[in-house]
Amino acid sequence: MNQPQNPEHYPSVSDDILVDTGAVDPVYQEIYQRLKGFDLGSTNAWTRGQPFDYYKRMRDESPVMWTQGRKPTSGFWSVSRYDDVKHVELNPDIFSSQRGSMNMAVLPPSGKADRLMYAAHNSLINLDADIHRDLRIQQSEFFFPKYVETLKERVGAKIDELLDNLERQGPEVDFAKLFSTELPMFTLCEMLGVDEEDRPNIIKWMHYLELAPQFLTHPMRMFMAEPMFLFRFKGMLEDMFNYGERVMADRIKNPRQDLLTVIANATLDNKPLSQNYLDGSWLLIIFAGNDTTRNSLSGTIRLLTEFQDQRQNA
Ligand code: HEM
Repeated sequence: MNQPQNPEHYPSVSDDILVDTGAVDPVYQEIYQRLKGFDLGSTNAWTRGQPFDYYKRMRDESPVMWTQGRKPTSGFWSVSRYDDVKHVELNPDIFSSQRGSMNMAVLPPSGKADRLMYAAHNSLINLDADIHRDLRIQQSEFFFPKYVETLKERVGAKIDELLDNLERQGPEVDFAKLFSTELPMFTLCEMLGVDEEDRPNIIKWMHYLELAPQFLTHPMRMFMAEPMFLFRFKGMLEDMFNYGERVMADRIKNPRQDLLTVIANATLDNKPLSQNYLDGSWLLIIFAGNDTTRNSLSGTIRLLTEFQDQRQNA
């Protein structure tokens, strides 16, 4: 994949990525059968919850299993036994994240959402072995207990504020809206060092990023709920990336004591990172640090509501 490169910068891994061929069948021979009963390749199938029985059957009957993709996406292997997963994880020369990306599909650039695509391929989570370790170590201080300790008081005060608000609005409240969307975003913005006045924009961009997979899963339903979504998405992406670019350029010139400064000034092989990586780092951190915690908070409350006996013991 070609994107103008500055030789002063560490090269983009997307230059060397394997684009999906749309392969229906695997290159290597299948040893185990393709189990029926759940379509791992369909986003829709996952909306009914985790298929735990199917996972067990995979581990028992078909621990290395091929699933057909939907064109233009290639089919894929699923490795489900612990030792096999460990083998894959520890052998990046064979099972590379860099060559294939962590995304289910690697499609050729289309011109429509290329900035998103390059960002998705050029980030920490898609790097292999030594360069992955090198980049990770440069950011690790912000994930160690000593730093987390410095956040505790501010996050604790935010939790009190959010809970007081829930109480005021109760007895029945939308926990997802009033708590789950607020707390992870606050915590992440504190870590990153995002200025107070910019935070509402980050919440808005996260809303759109969260909706994108739902659009792929339930296009009609989502179209009815947010008819302007597709028109707004591209502009939203531009705003989000431009903001990240501007703020990181500023942190290179005017470093602060925050995670954005570390991300913006990271190097590989003593070379600064290209805009592809800076876009990728920005996308990764605001998505990884928000979507996960936001949904696990809501999921926890949902489960405590479903399982009242466990709620009593919580
Ligand atoms: C419930 C909370 C969370 C869950 C379940 C979760 C889960 C994961 C998983 C499964 C991975 C991939 C690991 C791998 O590639 O082997 C990952 C990576 C990552 N997560 Fe999280 N995460 C959570 C919260 C967070 C938060 C709060 C942040 C940031 C503040 C964060 C930042 C990252 C980053 C930067 C990576 C890439 C790390 C790397 O490639 O070295 N995550 N997370």
